Amino acid sequence: MLKQFFQFLLVLCGALALASAGRYDGYKVYEIKAKNLAGRKALRALASEVSDKYEFLTLGRNFNGSASVLVSPENEAALKAVLEKQQISHTLQNSNFGRTLQDEVLQHRMLHQSKPYAAGTGRLGTERYHTHSEINAYLDDLAARYPSRVYVKIVGKSYEGRLLKTITITNGDGRAGKNVIFIDGGFHANEWISPATVVFSIGELVENFEEHAELLNDYDWIVLPVVNPDGYEYTQLSSETRLWRKTRQPVTLSNGTVCYGTDPNRNFDFHWLEKGASSDPCSNFYAGPRPFSEPETVVVRDILHTLRGRGILYLSLHSYGSAFYYPWGWGPVLPDTWEDLHEVGVVGAEAIHAYNGTEYEVGSSTALYGEACGASDDYAFNDGFALTYTMELPFAGSSGFEPPASDIDRLVRETWAGIRAVGKRVTVKYPLGRKRGR
Ligand code: ARG
Ligand code: ZN
Repeated sequence: MLKQFFQFLLVLCGALALASAGRYDGYKVYEIKAKNLAGRKALRALASEVSDKYEFLTLGRNFNGSASVLVSPENEAALKAVLEKQQISHTLQNSNFGRTLQDEVLQHRMLHQSKPYAAGTGRLGTERYHTHSEINAYLDDLAARYPSRVYVKIVGKSYEGRLLKTITITNGDGRAGKNVIFIDGGFHANEWISPATVVFSIGELVENFEEHAELLNDYDWIVLPVVNPDGYEYTQLSSETRLWRKTRQPVTLSNGTVCYGTDPNRNFDFHWLEKGASSDPCSNFYAGPRPFSEPETVVVRDILHTLRGRGILYLSLHSYGSAFYYPWGWGPVLPDTWEDLHEVGVVGAEAIHAYNGTEYEVGSSTALYGEACGASDDYAFNDGFALTYTMELPFAGSSGFEPPASDIDRLVRETWAGIRAVGKRVTVKYPLGRKRGR
C-alpha cells in the first residue's frame, strides 16, 4: 500500500514537472520604450527599486529609453499600470520565458547527447554549446595534435573541484619571453556565448595558424576558456538554473540561511566592494566575504601576476552589451593612457562592424555601464597590462543572455573578427620591449 502511494507520488511529481516550465513559468518579456525624459526617469526609478518584481534586462548607464523587462505573472498588472501612467509604450516579446528557457536547455542536452565531442576529431563546432569537460578535452586534444605550438597547463581547481586549464598558443619557434595576450571567458555562468567565442578563437589561432601567423610572431596567446566552470555546469542543468551568474561556493548567513556563490567579477582586490557590488551573499552581485575568496578568481589573479612585464593585452569576454569597456570601472575617472585604450577599442569595434554590420560602443566601464568595483579588467590594468577590456557580446535570445544555438556561429565569427583586429593592432602598437605609455 505504502509502496503504491509512493509510486503515485512519483508519477504525480513527474506530471507536475512536465506541466510547469519551472521557476520562470509564465514570466513574460516586454520590450518597453520611454517617449520622453519623464518616462526615462520613471524607468530608471523603477529599475533601481531592484525588486524581485521585475528584472530589467537592459538598462545600462547609456540607457536611451529602450529596455526589456522580465516580469512574473503576479507582477504583470502592477508593471503595466506604471507603464501606462508614465505613457511608456510596451510590446510583448515573449509570453512564456520559462518555456523558452526549458526548450533551450532541452535542445542543448539533446544536441550534446546525440553527438558528444570525441577527441581527435578536429575543431569543436559552432552548432551547439559545449560542456566544461568537452572544452577541457579539446584543449588536451590540441596539445596532443600540435605539441610544438601549444601547451596546456592545469592552473587550479574550482570550488567543486573542476580543473581550470589554460592553453598557451605559440608559433612554435621556441622563443621565450614574448609579449602576451591573455583572454578569458565564462566569468559569469549564464553567458554561454563567452566560452563559445573563446573556444572558436583558440581554434582559429591553432588550427588555422597560417592565416594568423602575424599574430604570433612576437606574442604568445594564453587563454582560459571557462573561469567559472561550477556555475557554467550548473546553468546546463535546467531552466531553473539557466540564468545563474555566480560561482557555487556557499555562504551561511547568521540566521542559518545558506546562499550560494559570489560574483567573480566583483571579487578582485581593487576598490573591492566600493560601488556596484553587494555585501549580501544572496545578491547576484555579491562581492564575496573577502577579496579573492573564490578559488577561481585566485587562479586569474595568479595568471595576471605571472605575466607581469609581458602581459600587454587582457580581454575578458562577457555578454551582453555590444561594447568594449575599458578602465576604469571603479569610478568616473579615466587612466592617463585612455586614448590608447580608446583607439584600440575602436579598431575592434570597426572590424566587427565591417564584418557583419554589428555596432559596438567603445568607452570606459563607468561611462557605458556604471560603476562596478572589484572586476578583473581594472585589476589587470592596475597590475600593469597596457590594455584591458571587458568585451560585451551582443544581446541575443529572449533575455539577451541566451543566444539560441543557431546564433552561435554568427556571433563567434563576428567577435573573432574584432579580437583578431585588436590583436593585430596590439602587435604593431606594442612591439617587444615597448610597454604602456607614450
Ligand atoms: N558586465 C560586466 C560585469 O558586470 C561589466 C564589467 C565592467 N568592468 C568594470 N570594471 N566595471 O561584470
Ligand atoms: Zn558577465
